[in-house]
Amino acid sequence: MGKIICVTNQKGGVGKTSSSLNIAGALRTMGRSVLFVDADPQCSSTLTYGISIGEGEESIYDLYESGVEDVYDIIYETSFGDIIPGDKIMKEKETGLNGDPKKLYRLKNALAKIRDDYDYIIIDTNPNTNFSTLSAVMASDGAIVPVTGGYFAQDGLEDVLKSLKGMKEVNPNFKIYGIFINNLDKRRAGDNLADDGLAEKIESIKEELGLDKDEYKPFKTRIRTDQSVENAHRLAPSLFDITGKAFNQSKAKADFMALAKEIEKAVKEG
Ligand SMILES: Nc1ncnc2c1ncn2[C@@H]1O[C@H](COP(=O)(O)OP(=O)(O)OP(=O)(O)O)[C@@H](O)[C@H]1O
Ligand SMILES: [Mg+2]
Repeated sequence: MGKIICVTNQKGGVGKTSSSLNIAGALRTMGRSVLFVDADPQCSSTLTYGISIGEGEESIYDLYESGVEDVYDIIYETSFGDIIPGDKIMKEKETGLNGDPKKLYRLKNALAKIRDDYDYIIIDTNPNTNFSTLSAVMASDGAIVPVTGGYFAQDGLEDVLKSLKGMKEVNPNFKIYGIFINNLDKRRAGDNLADDGLAEKIESIKEELGLDKDEYKPFKTRIRTDQSVENAHRLAPSLFDITGKAFNQSKAKADFMALAKEIEKAVKEG
């Protein structure tokens, strides 16, 4: 049975999209079959797959609003693998969807029908806990969570753990597969602190909040700051889909491959 994993953090700009795209790319490179789901109305990951949903074209919005007869009607096959694209119409329609609880289950029910066709279903989410994110949480087996060095400056890490705890109340089967540092640049003072202290800080917050000791663990892999991550967005979904020296030697590409392997291990154990 394929695993459904959402990449989540309510904070903006921490690397949810970059990480979900590159982890999906790494898993494909490892020979796994992957369905990508863009549950973010900003649709940035959809654009990297070369897709833009026009008026009248079926999308994730139709699934949320009325359900679709055949899930494959909203799955697009691309040379980078399959994707359920995001739809910008969600920016205006999202609030309206909130009122009907059964709509929250439609993504879950749809993915349940096709999960055996894939090894992994990776969901990119948006930076808040509105309808799209909650739908993704209901539909997922668990989450992986990018954080950045900036979290160590304030109480950011505690906020993110509290929010993950809340997600487990929404979906009791939801596992927190792990937390990883993205965009690590050791020349930044905050990042040095984060790199050295992540495990310890997480442990102390877990104790304070009474969280399950076996979850909310930091992954060993850190994703280093690397301009190629940003450059890749204009060319393809992931660093694994582009050839050329700059991309082949990318530090982040090596990091994402190591992280994908760690995720596979965590998911199998979970
Ligand atoms: N490891 C990295 N090295 C360099 N740049 C990075 C790295 N990770 C992310 N970025 C850049 O940081 C910016 C924010 O990343 P991204 O869009 O993935 O974050 P996000 O959490 O999805 O944001 P949002 O909350 O708005 O959806 C992007 O311009 C991205 O290219
Ligand atoms: Mg994003």
